[in-house]
Amino acid sequence: MPFTPLLTCESLLSETSESVVRATAGVVAEHAEQITARFYPRMFAERPDLLRVFNQGNQATGEQSRALAASVVAYAVHLIDPEAPPFDHVMTRIAHKHLSLGVRPEQYTTVGHHLLAAVAEVLGDAVTAQVAQAWSEVYWLFATQLIAEEARLYQQAGIDPAHPLRVYQVVRRIEETAGVVSLVLSPADGEPLPAISPGQYVSVFVDLPDGGRQPRQYTVSSTASETRLQITVSRVTGVGGAPDGRVSSYLHDVVRPGDLLDVSNPAGDFIVESSSRPLLLVSAGAGITTVLPIVEHLARTQPQRQVVVAHADRTQHDHALRQTVLHAGRQLDDFTSHVWYEAVDGDDHQSRHGLMDLGDVPLPDDLAVFTCGPLPFMRHVRAGLLARGVPASEIRYEVFGPDLWATQV
Ligand SMILES: Cc1cc2nc3c(=O)[nH]c(=O)nc-3n(C[C@H](O)[C@H](O)[C@H](O)COP(=O)(O)OP(=O)(O)OC[C@H]3O[C@@H](n4cnc5c(N)ncnc54)[C@H](O)[C@@H]3O)c2cc1C
Ligand code: HEM
Repeated sequence: MPFTPLLTCESLLSETSESVVRATAGVVAEHAEQITARFYPRMFAERPDLLRVFNQGNQATGEQSRALAASVVAYAVHLIDPEAPPFDHVMTRIAHKHLSLGVRPEQYTTVGHHLLAAVAEVLGDAVTAQVAQAWSEVYWLFATQLIAEEARLYQQAGIDPAHPLRVYQVVRRIEETAGVVSLVLSPADGEPLPAISPGQYVSVFVDLPDGGRQPRQYTVSSTASETRLQITVSRVTGVGGAPDGRVSSYLHDVVRPGDLLDVSNPAGDFIVESSSRPLLLVSAGAGITTVLPIVEHLARTQPQRQVVVAHADRTQHDHALRQTVLHAGRQLDDFTSHVWYEAVDGDDHQSRHGLMDLGDVPLPDDLAVFTCGPLPFMRHVRAGLLARGVPASEIRYEVFGPDLWATQV
């Protein structure tokens, strides 16, 4: 029998709060980014320890603030509008990210306190007791669902949220290109690796020379070894006066074999299900790190599955993991690779020139698409595939930063 939820989402809010949220959703949405921009400094002033858990690069660019604002607004709309776009993927994405960072239930009280105080600060007198109560209800409904999903994920992975990290030793560095290094990591306790689904990432926490501690997510870029975990890090250089990336620079310039890193359990739902459907894996730049583990996995488990890879990069000298992907692809029965470079070497007669254009690439029917790269690139790819009749529901994506797209697609 199909599962019928006893509660529909719109009935989760109390009747009074529902009408208040309906009446105030517009004004909250309009000020959402102002609210979250106030929220973080408030919270960090009282809890400076959280500066070591939140990505300070995303604070500086405002991306995390925008992602939080968009998620809360989309959640509220989802509560009051039965026609609202699906929200499950947003919830899952956040829960996985929280899992990788060791977010704990009791921290929701701190976040809730400062977020609701920031709403009152920004909206002033418009926040009557009734409005405050209604938005507190929205927050706690969202929080409760996230806490439940995170508890399920922690339990499934056998992680104690009070100790979410394991120490790994760097056993090897592979200079993939001038700007990309792979680090091969081995659990320092000598115990087996956790279960890793190809496409998942880990959060790596580093203690920086300035005394700060920061986490960043890195895709597990190869699952070829059953005892070692590999990440592949692209060096981020600052553009237009912005500083160079803190953690990527540290991993490139300082970390050497023998060093220890704190690493989370693998997380993320950018995972290829086992099915017979053909796959199109579309990447740009560092997005290639999601392609290799998937191709390797299929070579091991489903070599008969048809796979097309398409990658875009600046030049072939910037194209990391190229040979490794081709090597893994050769173990598949039906594997095709397409490449676009902004500048093609004179002796390279196979790669295409310019931005990726899938328009004339032969694509199999009933395709499942996985794409990873900068947002403008993925928007372009998605538009092209939709125009070719690929259903939106078959295009999955991974963003290497706070997901500012999830609430829009
Ligand atoms: C799920 C996921 C998977 C990922 N997988 C990979 C992977 O496999 N490989 C990989 O290389 N990366 C990956 N990333 C990206 C990675 O997590 C980091 O974001 C990346 O390495 C940059 O981190 P950083 O500390 O070097 O840069 P940051 O210090 O965080 O800086 C990031 C950007 O912000 C700008 N910035 C920082 N401070 C300021 C300021 N004050 N003013 C203006 N601009 C500022 C910097 O110039 C830079 O452009 C992944 C991210 C996610 C979310
Ligand atoms: C209802 C409450 C919460 C909501 C709606 C929420 C929402 C989000 C969203 C949308 C993201 C970005 C996900 C992405 O990468 O795409 C995120 C990331 C994050 N959240 Fe939460 N969150 C909540 C509670 C918490 C709590 C209690 C903590 C613990 C202190 C926390 C810590 C973090 C951290 C550290 C990140 C990563 C930030 C970054 O990489 O810049 N969150 N959250």
